[in-house]
Amino acid sequence: MALKKLVAGNWKMNGRLADLPEIQAIAAAAISHGDVDVALGLPATLIAPACAAAPGFAIGGQDCHWAASGAHTGCLSVDMLKEAGASFVIVGHSERRTDNHETSLDVRQKAEAAMAGGLLAIICVGETEAQRDAGDAVSVVTEQVRASLPVTAAGGAVAIAYEPVWAIGTGRTPSAADVAEMHAAIRAELKSLLGQEGENIRILYGGSVKASNAAELLHIADVDGALVGGASLKAADFIPIISAAKR
Ligand code: PGA
Repeated sequence: MALKKLVAGNWKMNGRLADLPEIQAIAAAAISHGDVDVALGLPATLIAPACAAAPGFAIGGQDCHWAASGAHTGCLSVDMLKEAGASFVIVGHSERRTDNHETSLDVRQKAEAAMAGGLLAIICVGETEAQRDAGDAVSVVTEQVRASLPVTAAGGAVAIAYEPVWAIGTGRTPSAADVAEMHAAIRAELKSLLGQEGENIRILYGGSVKASNAAELLHIADVDGALVGGASLKAADFIPIISAAKR
């Protein structure tokens, strides 16, 4: 059975209080697209104001620490994100794997902390261009899934976001055949790790999703939604992507 699609925005280091009307417009569109789950991963400073401005809409963070508290300057715990109003958190985004040297073990610990606290963890994986050119994309990504996924992962608690590093913010996307191959490989990996529960975990595609390519990407087998960066910042760009997810 097809899983309900999730279209999640990732605002990265963008967004100020002046952007709350964009969030409200996206939240209003989410209500009128009830057959699609819609969510926005915001900078931590905007989580509480966005939750106040758009009650009931799914707002999340873009990273968390695995510890509950302690000497981790600049980091946020799962409980802090929850207190601000978050219902999910993105972990292991390639920008954090690169800029902050996060390993798949780090990512798994963050996902475990999110699960334990009741936040949906969106776990990001993806190959570099050099890895794809070398023919290693599927093996690299399935290894990242194996190493990043909590052993107790379940459909309601985690989602995977397949984001080829070379497709993020570049305007380039893999072919539909390459997306289908990768999502099938991730599905097979999830089933081998978790058995039947592997069928229940949503696998999102991310990397240069926009209104003009969303319908094609979102209706490839085993693509259960999208993680959208640049095109999620404005309601006018993001709402057509939500619409494209509808059956
Ligand atoms: P993009 O970013 O849609 O701007 O390519 C996607 C992401 O990094 O999550």
